[in-house]
Amino acid sequence: MSEPTQPLIPQPCTLVIFGGSGDLAKRKLVPAVYNLLLDGVLPPNYAILATGRKPLSDAAFREIAREGVIKYSRQEIKDAVWANFERRLFYVAGAIDDAKAYTDIRTRLEKIEAELKLPSNRIFYLAIPPTSIAGAVEYFRCALHRSKERRLSSTRHRLEPVQALEIRQRERVVAEQLAVDAIGKRHQRVGELRANQDERARDPRERHDARRRPSIGLR
Ligand SMILES: NC(=O)c1ccc[n+]([C@@H]2O[C@H](COP(=O)([O-])OP(=O)(O)OC[C@H]3O[C@@H](n4cnc5c(N)ncnc54)[C@H](OP(=O)(O)O)[C@@H]3O)[C@@H](O)[C@H]2O)c1
Repeated sequence: MSEPTQPLIPQPCTLVIFGGSGDLAKRKLVPAVYNLLLDGVLPPNYAILATGRKPLSDAAFREIAREGVIKYSRQEIKDAVWANFERRLFYVAGAIDDAKAYTDIRTRLEKIEAELKLPSNRIFYLAIPPTSIAGAVEYFRCALHRSKERRLSSTRHRLEPVQALEIRQRERVVAEQLAVDAIGKRHQRVGELRANQDERARDPRERHDARRRPSIGLR
């Protein structure tokens, strides 16, 4: 029999909703998170950062969210609970195809995380039109790559010069090894082609055709 599964412990995090000013966020997402809070399954520390093109203040977004909860929530709104919930709702404006929007989102995220003492544990929810999803995902891919590069380079700068040198040497060895492997594979392929060519040359049935076929020029 398998081991009993561990209960899931919700971790402090920030939910970033792209399309947070839209219908899905108002009708489903925010009411769903509010219900999780009432059900006691939200982590003790959390935040929601909504983004959309409309310029909205945090207060205006909180009002839209409140309307959504009043209208669509499974459980009724409770003033005391709502007061605690809404101070964790934030909004920043930006278009998905505008690089500046991502800088603004990151800056706002870092500020919220610092104020609420949240770790950089982020969930991204795309509540945007299907036609905008590929662009947003591509941006995330590039941003992830850039942040990995940044982390690597800042780690290198923090290291002692000797360690940094060792890492650079190791990287060079790996790069050289990859190049050697690639050359090796090429030589192996050339060897196979040569052996093939020699075998065909020895085959009397092939000799006749060989005069007509150009040599593959491997020698
Ligand atoms: N509504 C539902 O009940 C429901 C149910 C299931 C699935 N969905 C899916 O959920 C997604 C959102 O639907 P929705 O009904 O919420 O649509 P919506 O009301 O039109 O909202 C779209 C959201 O995306 C934002 N947006 C659109 N283009 C953007 C861009 N270029 N840059 C930044 N933000 C942009 C809008 O921001 P601004 O308005 O501020 O410009 C708005 O917040 C769609 O993929 C839909 O198929 C919706």
